[in-house]
This record gives sequence, C-alpha cells and structure tokens, in this order.
Amino acid sequence: INSQLDLDSKLYAICELLEKHVNHYDWVGFYFKNGNKEELKLGPYVGEPTDHTIIPFGKGICGQVAVSNENFVVPDVSAQDNYIACSITVKAEIVVPIFVNGENIGQIDIDSKTPDPFTKADERFLEFICEKVSGLL
Ligand code: SME
Repeated sequence: INSQLDLDSKLYAICELLEKHVNHYDWVGFYFKNGNKEELKLGPYVGEPTDHTIIPFGKGICGQVAVSNENFVVPDVSAQDNYIACSITVKAEIVVPIFVNGENIGQIDIDSKTPDPFTKADERFLEFICEKVSGLL
C-alpha cells in the first residue's frame, strides 16, 4: 500500500467536493510544511494550475498563515500588499491552518472569483474540514 498516494487521493477528493458544491469556491488546494524547511509545498488541488508550488514562510497569504497559526480571510486581494497572485480572475481568498498535536503543519487555501464571499460560516466549516484532514495525517 502506498500511503502517500492514498492520502493524496483523499485530499484531492475533498478539494473536488468543495469546489463542486460550494459556488464561491473556485480554486481549492492544500499546502503543507515542506519537511524541515521554512516553506510550504503545494499538495492536492482543484482549479487552474499555479506556478506557486513552493511558498516561503511569511510570503503571501499562505506564508503568513504558516507563521500566524490563524485563519486569514481576504475579502479583496487587491487591497493586500503581501499577496501572491495566482490568477487575475481571483478576487478573494481564505486560508485556514491544519494542526496536528497543536502544530501548524499545513493549510487549506481557497480562492474565489466572487468579491468578499467568505463568512464566519466558511471559517467554521473549513475548520471542521481541517480537523478531519488532521485525523488523516
Ligand atoms: N494567493 C496565495 C498563493 C497561493 S494561490 O492562491 C494558489 C497567497 O497569497 O499566499
């Protein structure tokens, strides 16, 4: 059994479900801490391919969540200085960290083409998803 393939297929299935069933989720992906390096590495995702497969800690919305350990909701990406654009069609973003034994080991990242679409309900829902993902790791 290749357990990494097994895990990746589950994570991909989660991305597919979220992108398909939530209208304002247009790009859904996972980033994980890359070994012992101070950087994130792209995991399974659904949506347009991105050049940003490696993101240093602190850089962009994702890199900031890697160090803040907190959700980051961006209603308008054009208003952010420390933002990495993956597609010009993206208007908003939400990133929610994944914890294993209290350690921030990765995150779910969602882009939206809809301006200001994310609510507290998205945060609570994605925290729930991240807890489930934590249980798979
Ligand atoms: N916008 C992110 C980069 C990842 S893409 O959204 C897939 C950021 O600023 O960290």
